[in-house]
Amino acid sequence: MTLLELKDISYKVTGKEILSGLSLSIGTGEVHALLGTNGTGKSTLAYLVMGCEGYRPSSGEIMFAGELINSLKIHERAKLGITMAWQEPVRFEGIAVRDYLVLKDKNIDPAHYLEMVGLHSELYLHRMVDKSLSGGERKRIELASILALSPKLAILDEPDSGIDMLSTQDIVNVISAFKNNSASVLLITHREEIVLIADKASQICNGRVVCSGDPEKVAEYYKARKCLVCDGEVCAYV
Ligand SMILES: Nc1ncnc2c1ncn2[C@@H]1O[C@H](COP(=O)(O)OP(=O)(O)OP(=O)(O)O)[C@@H](O)[C@H]1O
Ligand SMILES: [Mg+2]
Repeated sequence: MTLLELKDISYKVTGKEILSGLSLSIGTGEVHALLGTNGTGKSTLAYLVMGCEGYRPSSGEIMFAGELINSLKIHERAKLGITMAWQEPVRFEGIAVRDYLVLKDKNIDPAHYLEMVGLHSELYLHRMVDKSLSGGERKRIELASILALSPKLAILDEPDSGIDMLSTQDIVNVISAFKNNSASVLLITHREEIVLIADKASQICNGRVVCSGDPEKVAEYYKARKCLVCDGEVCAYV
């Protein structure tokens, strides 16, 4: 069953078209990898699905569980079960890891979610969420907090890059944890080896899907044509 369906999405800001006629769908329980080089529109797509302030499609439809959600606000989408790990995470400072994990639901077992992301609960539950945690530890704790929300759809914006980089094996483990929790995942990345974890993959270039389907094939396509050369509105490789 389709959980998320993007139909012919375009997004313009100050006259610039960042996404152009983009269509993509994610099934229930499916991990869909979105591959693309810097500046191709991956995070913009994530903000549109999450419903961040100012991010509404200029045209096209965002359907979630059969419902048109274009005009829903971020908190309304969160209630439907959409959640996101930001590329540059917004972080809670100065609360204990245990409290951070039970922010939404006091009845969950925070230790369980820490173990799911490979952290020993006895070492971390009492730590504070602050700069004393390493980047990788903070990233894992953030992913644990998203798991603890039991989302229907988790959007993970480049969990494999940046200062808080996780290894490929860490990502595999985290994705398995989401799968075991029956969540669908939109996994944004620009590393082709990460794509192989997914059930399905799409490559975007210049705000368009240029290749979609079997992750291995999409990864190969991406390796061969990173679409670094885009000629104005039309990708040279379409
Ligand atoms: N508010 C805005 N005004 C003008 N241009 C914007 C705006 N927001 C995004 N862009 C541009 O849209 C393009 C896509 O940005 P986006 O952040 O979605 O890329 P990305 O694929 O996530 O890249 P990265 O891999 O570097 O994270 C970029 O060229 C960016 O500069
Ligand atoms: Mg990005």
